[in-house]
Amino acid sequence: MGHGIAQITADKGLQVIAYDNNQTSLDKGIKMITASATSIANKAVTKGEIDKSTANTRVSTLIGNITPSTKLDSLSTCDLIIEAGPEDADIKAKLYTDLSKILNTKTILASNTSGLEINWLATKFGRQQQVVGLHYFNPVQIMRLVEIIQTPDTPKEIVEGLIKFVKFQGKTPVLAADTPGFIVNRLLVPYLASAMALVDRKVATVKDIDTGMMLGASHPMGPLHLADYVGLDTCLYILQNWTKKYPNEPAFFIPDGLKEKVKQGKLGRKTGEGYYKWKGNAIEGPVE
Ligand code: 3HC
Repeated sequence: MGHGIAQITADKGLQVIAYDNNQTSLDKGIKMITASATSIANKAVTKGEIDKSTANTRVSTLIGNITPSTKLDSLSTCDLIIEAGPEDADIKAKLYTDLSKILNTKTILASNTSGLEINWLATKFGRQQQVVGLHYFNPVQIMRLVEIIQTPDTPKEIVEGLIKFVKFQGKTPVLAADTPGFIVNRLLVPYLASAMALVDRKVATVKDIDTGMMLGASHPMGPLHLADYVGLDTCLYILQNWTKKYPNEPAFFIPDGLKEKVKQGKLGRKTGEGYYKWKGNAIEGPVE
């Protein structure tokens, strides 16, 4: 999701350093930003809102506001870091400890984590008051919400600053306490897992489950489509973290089919197969 967060922030004129420790992933992210920004600008041309030359300038200005980097040190002068690394607790713990050595004492470190505790991440960073959650939704360019997660240590001024920042990005902020899944994922992820359990129990086909929720509950995407879209590895990481920490919470369980697909490297959209076969961002058909 990092590329979407970088894109909407650079689009508002802020200077963004897009860091990834892997050059290939970084290049892919910049490509995705270019494609998305171009598509948005071209739509504005089609609607007659801007001319082609303004559209080109808009895209090149946005891209120019982003400095790609594979060096963690390049983040040392940032006022705000929005971390959107993999949902792997060990990877994040190491990153937060490494960042604590290079960031100045005023930098705010916000995690886009879907399932880890902000307070736990703060212990890895050390400066508890500076660590918060800024939780975005996929696709970041389109989804209008950002959850701001505060811990008991978060100063009021930081929350107020983040509310302003999120509104500046053109999103609507909501505040949540540092509890598993905050608001949206606490409700959404058990729902996605329940849909996967229906597939495991052969209650209905992938297509019919998704059609059911789209036509029966007016959701824009069915749950299995959405799980593929978000990434099955992300769903699994979230559920693994929760089931480990809250083994007696019946809403937190890991469907067998999810475990199996991730084991086989079938992670949804990003690998071309999950509950559906994908071609780029488009679904080709369900895997039944
Ligand atoms: N960049 C720019 N534009 C984009 C885009 C992107 N990355 N993705 C979609 N769009 C645009 C499309 O071009 C299209 O624009 P248009 O209406 O002007 O033609 C518009 O968005 C709608 O897209 P589509 O026509 O392709 O398809 P849909 O109408 O089905 O919309 C969707 C796509 C917005 C993704 C919609 O299906 C949706 O809202 N799905 C649910 C998404 C959701 O629930 N997200 C939350 C996931 S949970 C999460 O992220 C939290 C994490 O912690 C797990």
